[in-house]
Amino acid sequence: MAQTYLNQRKNSSERRRRLKICFRMFHVWVAPGSRLPAASRRIGKKNAPLQYWNNRYEAEDGYLFGREPNTFVTSQAHLFGPGTTVLAIADGEGRNGVFAARQGARVTSVDFSAPALKRARKLAAEYDVDITFEQGDVYEWRGTGDGYDIVLAIFIQFAPPAKRAALFDSIRRLVKPGGLVVMQGYRPEQIAYKTGGPPQIENMYTSELLRDAFAGFDIQHLEEYDRIIEEGSGHSGLSALIDMIARRPD
Ligand SMILES: C[S@@+](CC[C@H](N)C(=O)[O-])C[C@H]1O[C@@H](n2cnc3c(N)ncnc32)[C@H](O)[C@@H]1O
Repeated sequence: MAQTYLNQRKNSSERRRRLKICFRMFHVWVAPGSRLPAASRRIGKKNAPLQYWNNRYEAEDGYLFGREPNTFVTSQAHLFGPGTTVLAIADGEGRNGVFAARQGARVTSVDFSAPALKRARKLAAEYDVDITFEQGDVYEWRGTGDGYDIVLAIFIQFAPPAKRAALFDSIRRLVKPGGLVVMQGYRPEQIAYKTGGPPQIENMYTSELLRDAFAGFDIQHLEEYDRIIEEGSGHSGLSALIDMIARRPD
């Protein structure tokens, strides 16, 4: 019995080791449903996106997207002052939610990946900030109360067009009247750079797409630019970015 237990442990650590190698080799985003490396294909279709993200996080010893907040988020530090309610949507390992909380904001951080949430909780504890962490699927998560002053949506381009409309609608509802959506994503040019993000061009954002998606909002800031970013092994190198700040009307 002890031998069987030891063999099982050995097999599972061997599987983990192989997955690590596989995800390291393909550390550039390979979204679920696309042409995955062989080891990932074996994962199966059920819960594929969740499994995909869990595997990606588990394959990384450190923080996949780094511990430092995103540069666009830090440039907006003044928005996250004491009392501001912030929903950090698909917040991963928490770097942006933790940054907002460090400025005094009351942060709710949502992601569906348990290994990511574990790291996010650790980061919050290290900075001694209180965050409401929720494990949830953002396509279904409806939030609590009457919305948030800010919805922080940084690199949420896992959503293909068919699901993006619903996700953006949900974001539009989750931000309070008068509140802000603060978003950063990749533009179509990112596909050639291969320095992060999904390989599906249709998941990328253009100014036109964001203007349409947030029609009726006051687009206060919309900027396209290229910049070298270093955010862990997940986002690393010259990147085609787009930033948006949009205010929901009162
Ligand atoms: C590219 S990472 C970005 C993480 C974080 N926003 C950041 O900038 O560090 C995308 C995140 O979306 C999460 N995610 C993907 N699909 C999700 C879903 N349906 N519901 C909740 N989280 C999801 C993944 O677990 C991952 O943490």
